[in-house]
Amino acid sequence: MTPVKILGIAGSPRKGNTEQLVKLALETAESVGNVVTQFVSLREKPVKPCIADYACGQKGTLEEPCPTIKDDCGNEVMAMMAKADGFIIGAPVYFGGVTAQLKALMDRSMALEFKGMALRNKVAGLLTIAYARNGGQEHTLFDMARWLMLHDMIVVSVGADRPKESIGCYWGGSCTQGFPFPIRSSTQESKKGFQEDVIGINSIKSVAKRVAEMTKIIKAGIANVPAGELAWPLHPTFGVQTDAKK
Ligand SMILES: Cc1cc2nc3c(=O)[nH]c(=O)nc-3n(C[C@H](O)[C@H](O)[C@H](O)COP(=O)(O)O)c2cc1C
Repeated sequence: MTPVKILGIAGSPRKGNTEQLVKLALETAESVGNVVTQFVSLREKPVKPCIADYACGQKGTLEEPCPTIKDDCGNEVMAMMAKADGFIIGAPVYFGGVTAQLKALMDRSMALEFKGMALRNKVAGLLTIAYARNGGQEHTLFDMARWLMLHDMIVVSVGADRPKESIGCYWGGSCTQGFPFPIRSSTQESKKGFQEDVIGINSIKSVAKRVAEMTKIIKAGIANVPAGELAWPLHPTFGVQTDAKK
């Protein structure tokens, strides 16, 4: 089959742990084979918050999902999302939840929901990092999972390395900034704090492999389901152009 395309999105405002973790996850996904990846950081491609004029519902297109806000990277990032088969999405924990940068993309992505559920049937795995061992990682993973479930996406858990590797979290990749003791967030060292968290790194790699596996299964599987047997028509952007027989 044609390779699956996995988009990594890093939702931190700084060049730190999350960007490196998302890149590590993409490399790991590629190692599964027949996977191509793309990386985007919301630090480099900032997305402004939704202003709730609902113009996306009337005038949005897949190329320009939000007709109102044009002086940011929201439309560019959403257009990338519409073309991906799978996702690895990461955000650091901020006050027990996702960052404002990622929340802005979450809200703006309603434009893709309005475009015929453009993210439906795409696969996603999640990752996060915090200063504290129990600093809100699980809550942050579920913030992201709820967002993607609302888009009818298929959110995977941490993958099957957990019986043999120490993984530390069942819901996605989850790191602590330093291990066994956290590194203070105000230091330069904190920007590579994940490197000491070997258990967290195992969870990042395992969720990445799970995303690669599940994205291929879904893409190949749907290509083999006759259109009349699907509950809803596939979205036109869904990547069914594989060599699998229809
Ligand atoms: C505004 C802000 C809020 C934060 N809130 C939390 C928190 O609730 N729990 C926690 O353990 N760490 C918290 N942190 C620490 C970050 O999650 C941590 O430094 C993380 O490694 C940053 O990821 P990055 O390097 O990708 O930016 C917070 C940091 C900032 C700047």
